[in-house]
Amino acid sequence: MGSTDALPSQDLLVVLQKANQIASTTDRDTLLRGMASLLMDFNQAAAFVLLEPRAKPGEMLVSYSQGVELPPQGVQALCAEITADSPRCLHLPGLGARLVCLLPLAQNNPQRGAVALFDAAQPQLVVSDLLVKRLGSELEKLDLIASVKQQTARMEALVNIIEQISSTLDRDTILRRIISYANDLLNTEFSSLFLVEKNGDIQLYLGSNMPEGKDNKITVPSGQGIIGHVVKSGQTVIVDDVSLDHRHYAQADHMGGVTTRSILAVPLKTRALDLGSKRGGVRERIIGGLEAINKIGSKFTQEDARLLQALANQAATILEIAGIYNEANELFLNAISALAAAIDAKDPYTVGHSQRVSEFAVEIGREMSLNAEEIHQLRIGSLLHDIGKIGMPDAILTKPGLLTLQEDAQIRRHPEMGMRILGHIPKLRPALRAVWEHHERLDGSGYPRGLKGEQVCLAGRIVAVADVFDAITSDRPYRTAMKLKDALAELRQQADVRLDARCVEALVRAHANGRIQTQKERRGRVSASTLMPSRPLFP
Ligand SMILES: [Fe+2]
Repeated sequence: MGSTDALPSQDLLVVLQKANQIASTTDRDTLLRGMASLLMDFNQAAAFVLLEPRAKPGEMLVSYSQGVELPPQGVQALCAEITADSPRCLHLPGLGARLVCLLPLAQNNPQRGAVALFDAAQPQLVVSDLLVKRLGSELEKLDLIASVKQQTARMEALVNIIEQISSTLDRDTILRRIISYANDLLNTEFSSLFLVEKNGDIQLYLGSNMPEGKDNKITVPSGQGIIGHVVKSGQTVIVDDVSLDHRHYAQADHMGGVTTRSILAVPLKTRALDLGSKRGGVRERIIGGLEAINKIGSKFTQEDARLLQALANQAATILEIAGIYNEANELFLNAISALAAAIDAKDPYTVGHSQRVSEFAVEIGREMSLNAEEIHQLRIGSLLHDIGKIGMPDAILTKPGLLTLQEDAQIRRHPEMGMRILGHIPKLRPALRAVWEHHERLDGSGYPRGLKGEQVCLAGRIVAVADVFDAITSDRPYRTAMKLKDALAELRQQADVRLDARCVEALVRAHANGRIQTQKERRGRVSASTLMPSRPLFP
């Protein structure tokens, strides 16, 4: 049926030129609209339908049409005819016996799809077949460009995500970011992060659709569930339908209140250098797994798996580094605390003073919304605020009565001494001003330099409030502790005179919220206030 034999060469040239022009676009809709119009004009056809394969194998759907809307049975009838790669015309009874020219999109591959032209008055099968094959190759090219663009966009997103994850060493923040980004990157309904416990069980640490905190405790026994298999084998697993996979741990769905349909699960692997006798070797350890759950609109692909594994590898490495950093930091803070305790121990009345001042200062800082680094420096500065007393004679530090002018002058040197001692340690430099300025007062009455107002750094003003609060709520050889109510009233009276009012109010709030306790409150007793003014109230 139909032929192209009679077509003048001039007309053929015009058609091919038009096809070239249409094919120069990189927009799929423009390409389809142009080629459909050209083929309909050329064949004097009433309608154009493009059938292309979709997700399910063997199934084709109408991906574009002009001039007709096919009912489902019409689509089925057409699809059943797409079995060969040569063009042909046929009458389809399922479509009211309409004449259809069926033109496959690709050579040697009928499953790639086909174009159907309806009711062609002058079917030009040979040239139309050429045009449709051209359309097929252009569509493939555009799909390839779209796929490369998508891959590039996802790789860029992954690089950004890794940068974001690496910008903190806080473990909880890292873990939260990992699952949030996994969701965005793979377009899934939710994702879950599991960590291996010491006994081998696998604990759900976070789920992207679950409230913050660790209330949703879900434990998968060692070796069970798809995640158990991934953690044990170290291999990536894709399951399109978990109802058909015996490994699926359905109890986790029940406990988490979710319905899992499809899963992509990858292990969280870390690599650590061996020390000791096996020095230099690299040891791989699986610390957990990451699951992307219920891909929206399609199935998980191998590219999804590669992306999630790349994210998991980076995340595991950053977690390892964060762990090492946190351990080192803990060791550092423990060493500083021990040093601070040694200074406090010079006087039985100041035992625990530096630790309490540090706790108060940190809570004041949190109330004032300081960032993590500022809080960290505040913790160090407040722990070491009295380190300059290390060289002071015990007789002066523990003297119960009034100090002589000489003794007082010696005591007043401790902030500067502290600054000099710590100044030799580069890591402690950011905390130095808190040590140097914790006895400065806003009205200039403090020491060692008599700084005023904003000249005193914020850390110095915070430690001053914390130091005074602990001093007046603790017993001293020359006076007993003030009652809490009187102590807070005293601080408020000094607010914006000698002490920073914002720091005082922050301390009052932290105390009211139960986040800080005085020495007496910790001991569970409150003594009567019998203030003895033999030494200045403010240390
Ligand atoms: Fe001091």
